[in-house]
Amino acid sequence: MSFKIGNLVINNKIILAPMAGVSNSPFRILSRQYGAGLVFAEMVSDKGLIYQNEKTKRLLFMTDYEKPMAQQIFGSDLKTMVEAALYIDKNSNCDIIDINMGCPVPKVAIKAQAGASLMKNPNLIYDIVSEIVKHVTKPVSVKIRSGWDHSSVNAVEVAKRIEAAGAQAITVHARTRSQGYGGLADLDVIKAVKEAVKIPVIGNGDVIDGPSAKRMLEYTGCDAVMIGRGALGNPWIFREIDQYLKDGTILERPSHDEIKEMMIRHMESLVELKGEHTAILEMRSHGPWYLKGIDHASTLRKQLSQAKTKEEFIQFIEQFFG
Ligand SMILES: Cc1cc2nc3c(=O)[nH]c(=O)nc-3n(C[C@H](O)[C@H](O)[C@H](O)COP(=O)(O)O)c2cc1C
Repeated sequence: MSFKIGNLVINNKIILAPMAGVSNSPFRILSRQYGAGLVFAEMVSDKGLIYQNEKTKRLLFMTDYEKPMAQQIFGSDLKTMVEAALYIDKNSNCDIIDINMGCPVPKVAIKAQAGASLMKNPNLIYDIVSEIVKHVTKPVSVKIRSGWDHSSVNAVEVAKRIEAAGAQAITVHARTRSQGYGGLADLDVIKAVKEAVKIPVIGNGDVIDGPSAKRMLEYTGCDAVMIGRGALGNPWIFREIDQYLKDGTILERPSHDEIKEMMIRHMESLVELKGEHTAILEMRSHGPWYLKGIDHASTLRKQLSQAKTKEEFIQFIEQFFG
């Protein structure tokens, strides 16, 4: 069930996606404890790092509990991307440096010409990856989309350039930039990339449970699956997929008690990392995600999305779950 990225052994085929505002240290620890073989940290800006922006540098916080971990960077300027990668190589205890070539949001893809925008420029992709690989000691991976839009699906061409540039793994989110998060991930694109390169390929898009993970692995031949939205408010997803891939067992969903404890644990570790104010603001999103599928939780959802303090957050949860 394991696979390798460079010399790094990943113990299973289930990976937490980089998600801005979500894949921070506390959530990565939960994901690892509940069965993710590898976790990706949310993206950080190359310029933010080299100009020593305090907020950007704080995003690099990690602990040994979450290893193996990949730290993602985004940017489009060759020089600053190399400098940012070098900064991470020297200052972070992460195991992999990942380059974002998939982010669709205008601030990244249009204004900074980074993220998915790079898909339009395979030569620049080659230059960025090869220069970074030359300068750093950690393995480098790249996360791409299928292409910029439906008339320019070029994941295979880009993947070959990335491999030739010396990257050690590629993640394919099998949607174009113009699809955003809509439509369905196109498994044929992941399959085509897997057939075109020798380095490990991580498939991404719409894996939400054991059967969808198994389908992606079997249909595309990819080395591992990466899970984004399926993990929101649901760190249990990793052990569920792990079990299903091992013997086809579908584990029971967590009990209300487990959900309640997880919400509090997640909140408390965020408070420790970011202070109460920021943590509770972030839990306004996480809280309702944990309640997906729970009946009669609309009042609690609303309360959590307006909670102001740790005490309030706990009180609302206790009132509901008892
Ligand atoms: C809230 C959120 C934040 C995200 N932030 C990032 C990011 O920082 N870097 C990145 O490469 N992808 C980011 N993504 C995309 C995910 O990594 C993933 O590619 C996408 O959600 C598709 O996988 P899924 O269908 O399992 O959700 C983000 C997605 C979401 C929902």
